[in-house]
Amino acid sequence: MKIIRATDYYDMSRKAANIISAQVIMKPNCVLGLATGGTPVGTYKQLVEWYNKGDLDFSEVTTVNLDEYRGLPREHPESYWSFMHKNLFDLVNIRPEAIHLPDGTNMDSAAECAHYDEIIRQLGGVDLQLLGIGHDGHIGFNEPGAAFELGTHCVSLTEETIEANKRFFDGDVNQVPKQAYTMGIKTIMQARKVLMVANGTGKADIVKKAFFGPVTPEVPASILQMHPDFTLVLDAEAAARLD
Ligand code: F6R
Repeated sequence: MKIIRATDYYDMSRKAANIISAQVIMKPNCVLGLATGGTPVGTYKQLVEWYNKGDLDFSEVTTVNLDEYRGLPREHPESYWSFMHKNLFDLVNIRPEAIHLPDGTNMDSAAECAHYDEIIRQLGGVDLQLLGIGHDGHIGFNEPGAAFELGTHCVSLTEETIEANKRFFDGDVNQVPKQAYTMGIKTIMQARKVLMVANGTGKADIVKKAFFGPVTPEVPASILQMHPDFTLVLDAEAAARLD
């Protein structure tokens, strides 16, 4: 595990974007595993800026996203498909056919999850997986207690997650999807490199617990301590509880 300390959110985003950009330069036809959420937005913004300057080329890159709500059409503004198009895909020269997210509209969970794992397998696996971390240590939608040995699977969102996400759905819990498809921890651990970004005081406790505490399914991100090529980029606030 390598920890890179950044000063603030902007610096964290630039450092993470540098690592992704090195991956794309070293292997132009790489497979990038991508995440949604607030944390990586600045990283995507930086990648777009370098693309606009002519320093980055996504024409040969393939992407696989971590997760997607089950039952939400792609075009819904809160789908992860929409998020990724708005923040990255519509702004760079990635080929539409090289973009992969679980299909939330396929209600046959077993078939969809098997299909997504097969896509990743046929691509030869993920070269670099970008992750954020939840306050409870979740990665993707792998909540505390999730089995380490699962591939892509369907999860029921916890009450806490539904409550936290209702702000994106007119404040109405009834509109929040109750399930999601997510890469499992096994899928994430199979990525050749894993890069996590975390910022803000709200992440300081979980960062300490996940990476300086015991490896346990109760803190899903803790398994990353065992990954052979794991880099954690923290701003000063998220690193505040580390010695
Ligand atoms: C996103 C994802 C989630 C987030 C996590 C942190 O695709 O799978 O695990 O990475 O919830 O979210 P933010 O960055 O909003 O704090």
